[in-house]
Amino acid sequence: MTISRPSTNLPTIHWTEGGESCAALWRSEAGVAPPKRILIADDTLSADAAYRLACEGTALMWRGDFQNARQLLQAMARRIDRKPRQPAPTITAAFHLKRMAQAQRARTLGMLLIPCTADHLVPLRRAPDVRQACTEAHGPAGAAYVVSLRELLGLIGAHEWRKQGVAIPACGGSIHPHYGVFAPIRSEYVGLVASTPLPASLSTHNLAFDIGTGTGVLAAVLARRGVVQILATDQDARALACARENLARLGLGKQVDIIQTDLFPPGRAPLIVCNPPWVPARPSSPLEHAVYDPDSRMLRGFLDGLPEHLEPGGEGWLILSDLAEHLGLRPRSELLDLINRAGLQVLGRIDVKPTHPRATGPGEPGDPLHAARAAEVTSLWRLGKKG
Ligand SMILES: C[S@@+](CC[C@H](N)C(=O)[O-])C[C@H]1O[C@@H](n2cnc3c(N)ncnc32)[C@H](O)[C@@H]1O
Repeated sequence: MTISRPSTNLPTIHWTEGGESCAALWRSEAGVAPPKRILIADDTLSADAAYRLACEGTALMWRGDFQNARQLLQAMARRIDRKPRQPAPTITAAFHLKRMAQAQRARTLGMLLIPCTADHLVPLRRAPDVRQACTEAHGPAGAAYVVSLRELLGLIGAHEWRKQGVAIPACGGSIHPHYGVFAPIRSEYVGLVASTPLPASLSTHNLAFDIGTGTGVLAAVLARRGVVQILATDQDARALACARENLARLGLGKQVDIIQTDLFPPGRAPLIVCNPPWVPARPSSPLEHAVYDPDSRMLRGFLDGLPEHLEPGGEGWLILSDLAEHLGLRPRSELLDLINRAGLQVLGRIDVKPTHPRATGPGEPGDPLHAARAAEVTSLWRLGKKG
């Protein structure tokens, strides 16, 4: 494979094929480093051999049938999942062990590689047309590249979500999440924002801020509830594009301004809503930034900045689940302390039990984290300035 290098700073991977030195660009949205050792593999490779090589850190450049590669990946995953879990002394240790195991699983399964052409075509037998999915995630390719099959399947899944959308009745339509943008699959937190009485101070200045808007879902809910103007912020380019597209599709583009900024837009508002990532832990890839908030950074930033952005009589609505408390990652007392030290007081709290299957179902046998998920409560904290 020859490289016509586009104006990107993607790394290059190298391997030998048919006695020749080959190279291609390496794409990994999950931020995985380019594999160092690459062998050519096809339909003749057994799942046991593929699994062993992947565990040893040897990547496999697939030249066989695409659907067989998919099956091989599943067979490798079964071999990983069959391994017994390490016992953990506490639920917090179980959480960290699970995250480590998930990262190791992702590394091993990421060793099966798929070539793509400069037009995002996969030049393999029975390969699906992934042009749309890849263009949505990467934009135009410009040069041939290599990607892990696992990541490519993730892109295809994300494309399906984006096409189908998630029905959110409180938005009066569907929200279409883009690749890498936090999707409002858990409806309970959207319901909280849709049903909590709006602060009376909105009647004098009808403006709200939505901090970390993601798909724009909460801004859309507020707009449907009659808030006249909403300033919605995010730092992530994909989230900003996604929110703009969703709000335009819902006919709310004029009511909601999408702004790229760190936390707050300039000025004050009588209502400020924020749904930060719920779990204080280090994201293991850039795609996890909306789920894990290291050292509760976004939560602290929101609480610390809230008083100077709230109008007198205004309310900050913090959406947060207590999963971190059940996992022993952030006690309730720490949250209350952060609220208090920011100069805020709790005006009220509305709680709801999650309804998604991981919380309500029986859980996988022996899953030490199931008890935490089953006990989880999602809350809307109504916060006001002290005094
Ligand atoms: C948990 S998601 C919530 C998204 C959306 N509000 C919702 O409820 O579905 C958190 C969002 O905050 C954004 N974010 C993280 N840090 C931020 C910051 N410092 N300033 C603005 N947005 C931020 C992330 O990009 C992400 O879209």
